[in-house]
Amino acid sequence: MKNFTQFESSSLATSLIEKALTYKSAPLQAQDKGKGKRLGLIFLNPSLRTRVSTQLAASNLGVESFVLNMDKDTWALEMQDGVLMNKNKVEHIKDAAAVLGNYFDFLAIRAFPSLTNKEEDSQDFILNQFIRYSGIPVISLESAVRHPLQSLADMVTIKEHFPEKRKPKVVLTWAPHIKSIPHAVANSFSEWAVGCGHDLTITHPVGYELDEQFTKGATIEYNQKKALEDADFVYVKNWSAFNLYGKILKVDENWLLNENKLGSNSKAKVMHCLPVRRNLELSDEILDGNRSLVQNQAKNRIFAAQAVIDSLL
Ligand code: CP
Repeated sequence: MKNFTQFESSSLATSLIEKALTYKSAPLQAQDKGKGKRLGLIFLNPSLRTRVSTQLAASNLGVESFVLNMDKDTWALEMQDGVLMNKNKVEHIKDAAAVLGNYFDFLAIRAFPSLTNKEEDSQDFILNQFIRYSGIPVISLESAVRHPLQSLADMVTIKEHFPEKRKPKVVLTWAPHIKSIPHAVANSFSEWAVGCGHDLTITHPVGYELDEQFTKGATIEYNQKKALEDADFVYVKNWSAFNLYGKILKVDENWLLNENKLGSNSKAKVMHCLPVRRNLELSDEILDGNRSLVQNQAKNRIFAAQAVIDSLL
């Protein structure tokens, strides 16, 4: 594994999940493995879980981590190649990434999509510019199209809570939101859930179809009630429209997930990557009740990141 930016294979996913669970059982078992190594955490967007869990993961392996909020703390970056830099962008990504490549052993980057330039976002332009010009291994902390560390933590959480031999029925359900939200969590979750062999159903209102390259192998069911039947895991997430790129569409039906919708399905566990808009996406009763795995997912972010950093070491 040279970079960690997406699902690559079921064998790699299985080994990362096993490694994460091993680290969860004894987080400091390899506390000197990364001694002398330095990880640069580059944020172009806000974060709570990704920032702290990745730093904790690095610390557990003896890796020194440095956080750079490039949206606020450094020079405004020009991302496009070959441009005349006579406006407000001060430093070119080619120079900045090369400097960071000299300072660190590996980089981790968070770079959300614009949600206005579909072509550029779909190519994961910013993440790839960092990979191209830093010359060192890169971990995605959520890019324009994927959030692989979140998905790895989600797969670890499903593994922990599903001891049965059969495939779990996993449902990804769209939820309402007031803002235009990226597709990365939903794309990645679909990619990893199908890749790990789960029986995945995706349910959303008409118009919220995800990019098909991420949903291959999943069942699309527009009727949320039908989709939720017999679910073992229900993953709640909002995303903006992909076809009408970045738009919020008018949806008549109530898509909030509440206890009433899960009805007599007492086994269904509910997941969300957080941050969550309570009582808009997901009800208080579910978030504060026994079905909720959201805190388990957040905790597993540490061990998912630790497994990835370990593999890059
Ligand atoms: N789930 C997640 O990535 O959380 P943050 O945006 O707070 O890092």
